Amino acid sequence: MVIKVLGISGSPHRHGNTETLLDSFLEGAREAGAEVEKIVLKEITCSSCRGCNACHKTGECVIKDDAIGLLDKILAADCIAVASPIYSMGITAELKSLIDRAQYLWARKFILKTLYFSSDHIKRHKGLFISTAGLSWDNVFDAAFPAITAFFNGTGFEYYDNIIANNMDAFGGVKKHPTALKGAFEKGRTVVEVLEKMNTLA
Ligand SMILES: Cc1cc2nc3c(=O)[nH]c(=O)nc-3n(C[C@H](O)[C@H](O)[C@H](O)COP(=O)(O)O)c2cc1C
Repeated sequence: MVIKVLGISGSPHRHGNTETLLDSFLEGAREAGAEVEKIVLKEITCSSCRGCNACHKTGECVIKDDAIGLLDKILAADCIAVASPIYSMGITAELKSLIDRAQYLWARKFILKTLYFSSDHIKRHKGLFISTAGLSWDNVFDAAFPAITAFFNGTGFEYYDNIIANNMDAFGGVKKHPTALKGAFEKGRTVVEVLEKMNTLA
């Protein structure tokens, strides 16, 4: 079975630091034999959640835009890499919109009880967070982690790893960072190898 890896870029800046880091990760995954796809949130329509709570009764979202097809793709992937630069100490509005739009999955899990992920399913579905930040602070990513954790929990993925690079201002961008791109490539390759091994042992 070919491992499906889906990269989701939440940066509004095309081919900037964060998307470049995501591309390296996806390149590593492709080299390890995965089927790879990248979705750029800026290029699709993903409106904000309206908070209407209709999904609490129906398990469906009333907004019929690209977010629905994307969330279907996420549920069908073996590995997702969710990427966002740090904006105002958190994730971008683009990524937060997608995470909020997954509320109907939360409703299926916790209200309607029509969706359940077994611990074996979660173990075989790996989620990674990819991020870059301008500041040198070690804690600059901390406010982003809870939303990413909630998203992986809601979609049935184990929070497998972070690929984060701070101090972009001082380095002059991720391409000038001494190890970030190579590290992301290696993590892409490794996660696919880990998932392939799990499938072989199944
Ligand atoms: C609107 C905005 C807000 C930002 N806020 C922060 C911040 O709070 N902390 C930080 O370290 N960097 C911040 N940055 C810098 C970006 O995180 C950094 O330049 C990142 O590498 C940009 O990635 P990109 O090229 O994918 O857009 C901000 C940048 C922008 C445009």
